[in-house]
Amino acid sequence: MHSRVSPLLALLVPLAAAVIAGTLFSAVAAGEVPEQSAGTAHLSAGAVSEAPPASPEAAQPSLPAPWALPNSRPELLERYQAWAQLHPEQGVEQVVLQVNMGLDRPFYSGTQVLEDPDALTVLVNKYHLLPDGYVPQLEPLGKDYGHGSLRPQAARAFRAMADQAREDGVQLSSVSAYRSYEYQAQLYAQYLQWDPQEVVDTFSARPGSSEHQTGLALDINTASLSSHFEDTPAYAWLEEHCAQFGFLLRYPEDKQHITGYRFEPWHYRYVGVSAAQACTQLDLTYEEYLARLSPSQIAALEEEALAGEEAAAAP
Ligand code: DAL
Ligand code: ZN
Repeated sequence: MHSRVSPLLALLVPLAAAVIAGTLFSAVAAGEVPEQSAGTAHLSAGAVSEAPPASPEAAQPSLPAPWALPNSRPELLERYQAWAQLHPEQGVEQVVLQVNMGLDRPFYSGTQVLEDPDALTVLVNKYHLLPDGYVPQLEPLGKDYGHGSLRPQAARAFRAMADQAREDGVQLSSVSAYRSYEYQAQLYAQYLQWDPQEVVDTFSARPGSSEHQTGLALDINTASLSSHFEDTPAYAWLEEHCAQFGFLLRYPEDKQHITGYRFEPWHYRYVGVSAAQACTQLDLTYEEYLARLSPSQIAALEEEALAGEEAAAAP
């Protein structure tokens, strides 16, 4: 079961290729037709259809409109238009991705409270907050697996992963798993006594926005940069195997502009096998991956996570 390639990944690879091709096409089109900036001709405010070409020489294959892309969100149309006007150098695919990730706005602005915080594939970050008072169903990891509790699905997956690692001679142990809102608030407030908020925000989530509050994330073996977990055999093992168990390195190196957090080699999130394998194979953060999916593909991903869970729980 752990080695299967997700059907969703199979769908996404051609999509990723199409996006890259589309972006390249936009750049070429922009170079060939300087007076008609690619990505803005059909994106000007209020435009709902493409203007006819001025002359036969100017005729170019039409660029996709943002609402025509499979991963566009109708409710974000005005934001696509506004971002495209600010960034005429970007192709329409890039515009849609940027806005889908929320990155047309500063972190923690325009935040939304999650409607389905119990989804195994839920995205919790600086734009998507857990509802007040949210507490997931939890179970203790057990004494052989370190500290704390996780959602039952994530707890089972972590124990299976740690058991396999142990067989391979690697010790994986939780140092921090589920955190209540109150505990996250206490941690964040403590950090604010030592560092300015813009620094604290790069390593600690504001209460309501921590993945630890979902019961789907945990810190493995350490939570300190100075211990250089990324140089350990345990990290190398996780890099190779964690996706097979549905876990994802959530805050990779050099992705701070997307996740809002500096590299946390110890922080892993249970997202289900399909999503974890897709992100790993495509080298995408969870934000980047979800932004590439259509709403129905995101729903299918949750179905796959639930089905995988049922299969894992079957006797
Ligand atoms: N350290 C991670 C970002 C958290 O506080 O949830
Ligand atoms: Zn963490």
